[in-house]
Amino acid sequence: MGFYNNKVVLVTGGSDGIGKALVDALLSQGAKVATCARNLDKLYQLQTSHAGKPLITLSADVSSETDCKKFIEKVVSVYGTIDILINNAGISMRALFRETDLQTLKKVMDINFWGTVYCSKYALPYITKQKGTIVGVSSIAGYRGLPGRTAYSASKFAMNGFLESLRTELIDEGVNVMWVCPGFTASNIRNAALTKDGSSQGSSPLDEAGLMSSEECAAGIIDAIEKKKRTLVFTFNDKRTVFLNRLIPSIADKLTHKFFFKNGELIK
Ligand SMILES: NC(=O)c1ccc[n+]([C@@H]2O[C@H](COP(=O)([O-])OP(=O)(O)OC[C@H]3O[C@@H](n4cnc5c(N)ncnc54)[C@H](OP(=O)(O)O)[C@@H]3O)[C@@H](O)[C@H]2O)c1
Repeated sequence: MGFYNNKVVLVTGGSDGIGKALVDALLSQGAKVATCARNLDKLYQLQTSHAGKPLITLSADVSSETDCKKFIEKVVSVYGTIDILINNAGISMRALFRETDLQTLKKVMDINFWGTVYCSKYALPYITKQKGTIVGVSSIAGYRGLPGRTAYSASKFAMNGFLESLRTELIDEGVNVMWVCPGFTASNIRNAALTKDGSSQGSSPLDEAGLMSSEECAAGIIDAIEKKKRTLVFTFNDKRTVFLNRLIPSIADKLTHKFFFKNGELIK
């Protein structure tokens, strides 16, 4: 019997990208899965594609504490417990700080950071009972501030700090708290990224087909949870960035600037 068989696993933001790939893979490994997102059509498609399988889909905005509470309560009322929470729902941004509306910055923070806090808060009593796992889907932006992504970086730094504190608080409870940092992964994230006025970017400047697939990323996350890892930084480049940023941050500043600006313009 596999590790995930009959485990109750919650994935926030499971209607697209990495979250959807997690839902698909976890169901195929025998888990009882629940997910939430805002777009009802995508949730409906996900639900119908897994007809007959143990999957709860709920329309919820993780930036709302009430929605997160309802999501957790719904899952517990159906499955009775929670073993694993994967805080995956997230949104990015592409705009220089000086040009960006404060509301846009707050929105990114509310979804990426507060969404993680709310879901973790309400799920924690159940996860503690199960000696389960809380995961944050973070990013290299949570280790190294990235230009044009001030709120995104802040939200992922905050997520990492929150999870590291929680991990340390829970050491004697047998709960594993971890965060994972995928490299560039093909998904809807760049399309949905907020511009300075809060509207979606509406396209991806990258060749999505050339990136790591969401399925590959989900497989790495699923493996890391089973192995009770502390953190997982997926790519060699990102590992090198973490290392360099710790060792010689001033060089990391220059290299990061060079990577993200072309002819003085921010690369989106
Ligand atoms: N793709 C990458 O290159 C990459 C790299 C590093 C880290 N990550 C992280 O990986 C996670 C997943 O991103 P992805 O690339 O799979 O993006 P994605 O394809 O855009 O999927 C994001 C998912 O989150 C949901 N979501 C967004 N805002 C939400 C909200 N307020 N409430 C509930 N659900 C919400 C979306 O559904 P709705 O819009 O319908 O709500 C969707 O299901 C994010 O935390 C991201 O920061 C991604």
